[in-house]
Amino acid sequence: MNEGQPESWFGFRRVDAAQKTELVRAVFSSVASRYDLMNDLMSGGIHRLWKSAMIDWLNPRGGQRFLDVAGGTGDIAFRILERAPEATVTVCDLTPAMLEVGRDRAIDRGLLASGPGGMNWISGNAEALPVVEMGFDAYTIAFGLRNVGDQQKALREAYRALRPGGRFLCLEFSHVAVPALARLYDLYSFKVLPWLGQQVVKDRDSYQYLVESIRRFPTQDRLAGMIAEAGFQQVTYRNLSAGIAALHSGWRI
Ligand SMILES: C[S@@+](CC[C@H](N)C(=O)[O-])C[C@H]1O[C@@H](n2cnc3c(N)ncnc32)[C@H](O)[C@@H]1O
Repeated sequence: MNEGQPESWFGFRRVDAAQKTELVRAVFSSVASRYDLMNDLMSGGIHRLWKSAMIDWLNPRGGQRFLDVAGGTGDIAFRILERAPEATVTVCDLTPAMLEVGRDRAIDRGLLASGPGGMNWISGNAEALPVVEMGFDAYTIAFGLRNVGDQQKALREAYRALRPGGRFLCLEFSHVAVPALARLYDLYSFKVLPWLGQQVVKDRDSYQYLVESIRRFPTQDRLAGMIAEAGFQQVTYRNLSAGIAALHSGWRI
């Protein structure tokens, strides 16, 4: 590993943050065209309910500027604009192939123009966002933070991007709080999911990475501590589906 680089994990492999970024980009480049289909298949559509819960808590309003980091194919951005058509959403993602799929979806929906009620698509790393300081009213990240090499750095960047009074909201896989469910979930994660990945998209490794990265991600309380460490206040979280996923919220005061 390179000296001076913070240590992180690619699944169960210890790598440095820069290596992880490259490996993650390769994973999402390879799954981009099938990503939306696989999401539905693997979660039985439940990711849609979790994303709706995120938008409910976010409560977007017209005129607000949103930054959706690790926005991928635009799911969160589209939901924000459905709820608040006069809002502006900037989608930022590491993987150009994911953004391309998202932009195609935006064109199909007539949502490509920037400005009020529009979308911007930018390529960039959550650890060093290519955006101005204090330029946004809210920062969202859904199923993205787990993939970032240096997560604490990404949280500090979220803080930098938000104006005072701005909102941070993170949706991520988390840790199951009910032991009986945890065993079932383990079985599904380590046996069924990689198998599904192989059958449907002939890509067992990407889905093995998904499962491992979920296990290595900080617990709900640890993540809340990291968000507070980045400077956010009033940090709270809500478990979704008994902790299979969690929503973390914080404010830049
Ligand atoms: C699981 S997808 C989530 C996409 C979308 N937010 C959703 O919920 O459907 C994770 C996304 O994170 C992006 N990503 C991974 N590491 C990143 C980083 N360091 N900075 C920005 N985006 C990153 C990937 O390219 C991928 O598009």
